[in-house]
Amino acid sequence: MGGRYRIRTATEADLVAVADIEREVFGDPWSLDSFHSALSDVMLVVTTGDRVAGYAVALGVADVGEILNVAVDPSHRRHGIARRLVREVCRQLADRGAETVFLEVRESNAAAQSLYHGLGFMSVGRRRSYYRAPREDALVLAAELPIAGPDDDDGHPVDSGVIDPFT
Ligand SMILES: CC(C)(COP(=O)(O)OP(=O)(O)OC[C@H]1O[C@@H](n2cnc3c(N)ncnc32)[C@H](O)[C@@H]1OP(=O)(O)O)[C@@H](O)C(=O)NCCC(=O)NCCS
Repeated sequence: MGGRYRIRTATEADLVAVADIEREVFGDPWSLDSFHSALSDVMLVVTTGDRVAGYAVALGVADVGEILNVAVDPSHRRHGIARRLVREVCRQLADRGAETVFLEVRESNAAAQSLYHGLGFMSVGRRRSYYRAPREDALVLAAELPIAGPDDDDGHPVDSGVIDPFT
């Protein structure tokens, strides 16, 4: 683990590293093509040096935002990277006009549920057998935007000063 972390808008050059993390982390991973399409939505990466440590993908349509994917490389976890990614994704969705943000999370994924509940997300429903590999229900979580709390996570090593402006 090295140095400080930076958060910025993803570019095409990040996608192979992102897809590598995705395959390591998920049993039913997104393809490289799926990430390529996500570049036109909200897609952020956290980097350290020239390595990608984590990423998040979201979509905003009218006044509704949806967080589609969040993952952090196992060797960079518990440094506040996911919290910073979700906070920034929510800020950018709000800038695009979203008033509510939704996401799905595996029922067994206690770490992610703790992350989202800590940011003010509430459980609003369930999608039965939503996930494959392994098959499992999804909990649907939602939060009103803006989410509560400071704009950045003081004390965490993510450098909030280098977020690319939203275009
Ligand atoms: C869930 C995940 C994204 C968290 O990433 P991270 O960068 O380690 O998370 P953070 O350091 O930002 O942690 C923020 C909060 O999440 C919760 N959290 C994170 N990892 C946790 C764990 N292993 N156990 C319990 N709570 C955890 C905690 O509430 C934590 O706050 P704290 O550090 O003040 O206790 C990461 O474990 C991951 O990539 N998991 C696999 C992919 C995944 O589940 N993605 C989400 C799909 S909805």
